[in-house]
Amino acid sequence: MRTLKLILMISLSTVCAKGLSQDNIEKKVNDLLAKMTLAEKIGQMNQYTGFWEVTGPAPQGGDAANKYAQLKAGQIGSMLNVTGVKDVLALQKIAVEQTRLGIPLIIGYDVIHGFKTLSPIPLAEAASFDLAAIKNSAAMAAKEAAAAGINWTFAPMMDITRDARWGRVMEGAGEDSYYGALVAAARVQGFQGNLTENNLAACPKHYAGYGFAEGGRDYNTVDVSMQRLFNDILPPFQAAANAGALTFMNSFNTLNGVPATASAFLQRDILKGKWDFNGFIVSDWGSIREIMLHGYAADEAQAGQMAITAGSDMDMEGGIYVSQLEKLVKDGKVKESLIDDAVRRILLVKFKLGLFDNPYKYLDSNREKQITGSKEMHEAALDMAKKSIVLLKNDNNLLPLKKQSVRIALIGELAADKNSPLGSWRGAAVENSAVSVLEGMQKYTNNRLTYAKGTNVYNGQQGFTTEVKITPDNRSGFDEAINAAKNADVVVMVLGEYAFMTGEGRSRSHLDLPGNQQDLLKEILAVNKNVVLVLNNGRPLALEWEAANVPAIVEAWQLGTEAGNAIAQVLYGDYNPSGKLPMSFPYNVGQVPVYYNMLSTARGVQTDVFWSHYTDAPNTALFPFGYGLSYTTFEYKNLKVNKKDFAKGEPIKITVDLTNTGNYNGKEVAQLYLHDIAASIAQPVKKLKGFQLVELKKGETKTVEFTLTDKELGFYNNEGEYLVEPGKFTVFVGTSSAASLKADFNIME
Ligand code: BGC
Repeated sequence: MRTLKLILMISLSTVCAKGLSQDNIEKKVNDLLAKMTLAEKIGQMNQYTGFWEVTGPAPQGGDAANKYAQLKAGQIGSMLNVTGVKDVLALQKIAVEQTRLGIPLIIGYDVIHGFKTLSPIPLAEAASFDLAAIKNSAAMAAKEAAAAGINWTFAPMMDITRDARWGRVMEGAGEDSYYGALVAAARVQGFQGNLTENNLAACPKHYAGYGFAEGGRDYNTVDVSMQRLFNDILPPFQAAANAGALTFMNSFNTLNGVPATASAFLQRDILKGKWDFNGFIVSDWGSIREIMLHGYAADEAQAGQMAITAGSDMDMEGGIYVSQLEKLVKDGKVKESLIDDAVRRILLVKFKLGLFDNPYKYLDSNREKQITGSKEMHEAALDMAKKSIVLLKNDNNLLPLKKQSVRIALIGELAADKNSPLGSWRGAAVENSAVSVLEGMQKYTNNRLTYAKGTNVYNGQQGFTTEVKITPDNRSGFDEAINAAKNADVVVMVLGEYAFMTGEGRSRSHLDLPGNQQDLLKEILAVNKNVVLVLNNGRPLALEWEAANVPAIVEAWQLGTEAGNAIAQVLYGDYNPSGKLPMSFPYNVGQVPVYYNMLSTARGVQTDVFWSHYTDAPNTALFPFGYGLSYTTFEYKNLKVNKKDFAKGEPIKITVDLTNTGNYNGKEVAQLYLHDIAASIAQPVKKLKGFQLVELKKGETKTVEFTLTDKELGFYNNEGEYLVEPGKFTVFVGTSSAASLKADFNIME
């Protein structure tokens, strides 16, 4: 029997919360609570989406008039989807000046990757492996949104996912939990800052398990083991709570048979219990009502009772709390103390945001004018966009492009598209407001650039609330594109997905280039071998043919407002790409889920037939997690493990010499992975446990040091306890999850 060392993780959330003269705020909250009627308390727990033209006349009749009456009676605590100083001010004035207690509303909005000025989609940002840049990007988004009267963003989304079919992969940080936790904390800190008028309350979502929807089909069943839950799904949420996130959002899915919104295990036991989270939990859109649709509650009353009992504090657009809770309390089915706890949490957040000190804190129209779309926003978006680009292939150094005397054919509908780069969840961005690749490249090419559309991504654009079915392929633009390619030295083809092919409700069962884009690519390659494929997409794609046949491939995602400028700067070598994939790209959809940190199987090693494999595809990804090239090359040497003082409580030190062996200055994300060789729960073949962004001039060598402590060496058991077990480990260091430099070490009891 091995000895288990149980590590008690200190809950940082308690430490953080105390910072804000907690006692004083708590007293204010309790004083206010004591003055509230039951109906007013329940009102704080009720959130509606904007339901009328706020600056127009009051609604007359119907549902809107009903809600309007609730607003004036203090029965709405929050609104979402109302933006802009003028509208938010009109709304806030009603809450503050016309209700009995004048409790300000908290105004929520999905600020996912920017507000009016957009940064790259979150998955793309994660490819930067640059936590400072990611934090700054969240801070910029918060500043622009806060200037428009918003107090609270429904972000970051931190659902770990290994299924590229799921449309919401674009909103997260990819497949790895260790990295996901760091990104989650960076985003929370970026949004919330010091809670000034330039910040927003963050709302980590979707708690929990939503990214493991079966088959990648959005809203589908989630059935995961406890080890997956504790080791893969929950760590980013815990990191977000520790970073001081003020609110959480639960999720639509059932988790092992229980709707997350009705899960006391997730909300009361873990989040509010073990992690000591003292903010509030908002439901997802109508998810309290959906408890019935999951077949878990018989009627609205039971759904409401389950949600409040489980710890859901605010009802987003479900209307259940406001219609059911009062009676449930009066009938003795829900204790008023549960309501008090929820309201206390909501008021606490409003106090922390400063809304009681000044409900109009966020409502300065001069600030709105100065900040919205400012130079600062555009510069930050461009910086983040460049850092998010991943170079997947670059045979014979086709890239960077020469700036002089090169005739370029730029091909593909997406090359001239000013809309798709904005991505899904685009806040208040104006349609077609992104810089296209065509516009970005025109700044470099002195009229030596010919553009031809070639083909559509597929026939018919999608909008946020519309879906267009793929219709038969149209080849009418092929000839023009082939001619342009024949007369060019280099062809740049921009292919991929429209913005709204990913995001909520946008799952796909194919992962290849949609429509006849690949046919066009083949015909272009037949007349000109010098093709650079620039991908614009919101998820990993299956690019087996492309990877085998196209000499240069650049993953440029949906990069936001400055997309075209960022792509042009990378193509022309003014910026040397350093991004790494935060999610594995499969050979084909049949391999999905394919992820680097899989468990060993007893039959993982190749034999003749009877080993775990596909007969027609490898087990590993085409482009694995952590993969990405540079215009220069890097060499890793001299991996050393120093654990001499580990027993005295010092970290294990891992060092490696990293040299820039190529012809450009560059930046490398040096990565460290760990494998626990034998453990009381089978461990992944590799787990990311450290990375560093290292800048190296050409020819330069630096010794990179990583440290390993109990925090990196352990794992959670099925009860959610964190264990570090003695025994043998292998450490891998290198340029991706396929890193091959390795060393073994032992830790003793
Ligand atoms: C989504 C959430 C989002 C909410 C409000 C829901 O449909 O799942 O992520 O924050 O709508 O827009």
